[in-house]
Amino acid sequence: MRVAVVGAGPIGLACAWRLAQRDHAVTLHDDGAPGAWHAAAGMLAPVAEAAFGEHRLTDLLVASVRAWPAFAAQLGDVGFARSGSLLVGVTPADQAEIARYRSYQESLGLPVEALSADQLRQREPLLQPGVHAGAYTEIDAQVDPRRLVERLREACAKAGVAVAGAVHGLSDVDADVVVVAAGSGTAALTGLPIHPVRGEIVRLRGGPKLAHLIRGYVHGRHVYLVPRPNGEIVVGATSSEESDPRPTAGGVHELLSDAIALVPGVREAEFAEVSVGFRPATPDNLPIVDRVRRGLVVAAGHYRNGIALTPWTADRVVNLVEAQ
Ligand code: GLY
Repeated sequence: MRVAVVGAGPIGLACAWRLAQRDHAVTLHDDGAPGAWHAAAGMLAPVAEAAFGEHRLTDLLVASVRAWPAFAAQLGDVGFARSGSLLVGVTPADQAEIARYRSYQESLGLPVEALSADQLRQREPLLQPGVHAGAYTEIDAQVDPRRLVERLREACAKAGVAVAGAVHGLSDVDADVVVVAAGSGTAALTGLPIHPVRGEIVRLRGGPKLAHLIRGYVHGRHVYLVPRPNGEIVVGATSSEESDPRPTAGGVHELLSDAIALVPGVREAEFAEVSVGFRPATPDNLPIVDRVRRGLVVAAGHYRNGIALTPWTADRVVNLVEAQ
């Protein structure tokens, strides 16, 4: 089949790659603009990202994260690391929130264990001494989204994917099946309810050596730290409905002060980068990976979980395309 994939972030690239491996003639339409992936931390974190009432999303995340090791192995070095997550809180109220979360996660059958202050300190000695209790899960992992995109571009080129320019309307595209994987831009192309949720995220270098992803609550606010094997620490992320692509002093202040409240040694790190991304959100936070009509498949609306859900999405899109 002749398949056009619109959107060249990790989702579009992975769909194009998998479809080309199945001998479809694939053209990838790339508008050349970095998408949400360029800001993303790359958490593969069904537990750290499990939210109350979102058990269907958690099931998808668990399935996709299980597929990640084999997916990464086929691509080469994408920075895949099984870091595990620590869930920690600063104030007694934050710590109570962690305990509530842990009970919810246990009720979903997720592998999460409570840790005493001593156990926490053994796992992560650089945590602030006031962090008394928390939880640990081994299943959370990470990749580097920028490396992932590089490897996927190489894999697409090797598999024979042709690259073309941006698409302004679906009538521009000549193919048997069109797959729209254009993140927040999918709304304008398809009319589906996908809207951008802005996030700011910072990258630090040369800071404390952390062994785990850290998902924290600090005075009721969420923050996460993703320590890369190369020493980078990604601290994220704000969340707002604004549309301004410029980073703000307030966003950076919030992220750094919350990170320092959890790990005081973050003060010594070099400030490397602040970036802004727009998460493609849906009304129920579930991605839309479906056939819309004959010849049109959508793979978008991954909200906070585009990187984690990439392998699952690519496999589902191959099935949807071949079932046309
Ligand atoms: N996946 C984390 C975020 O969207 O901030």
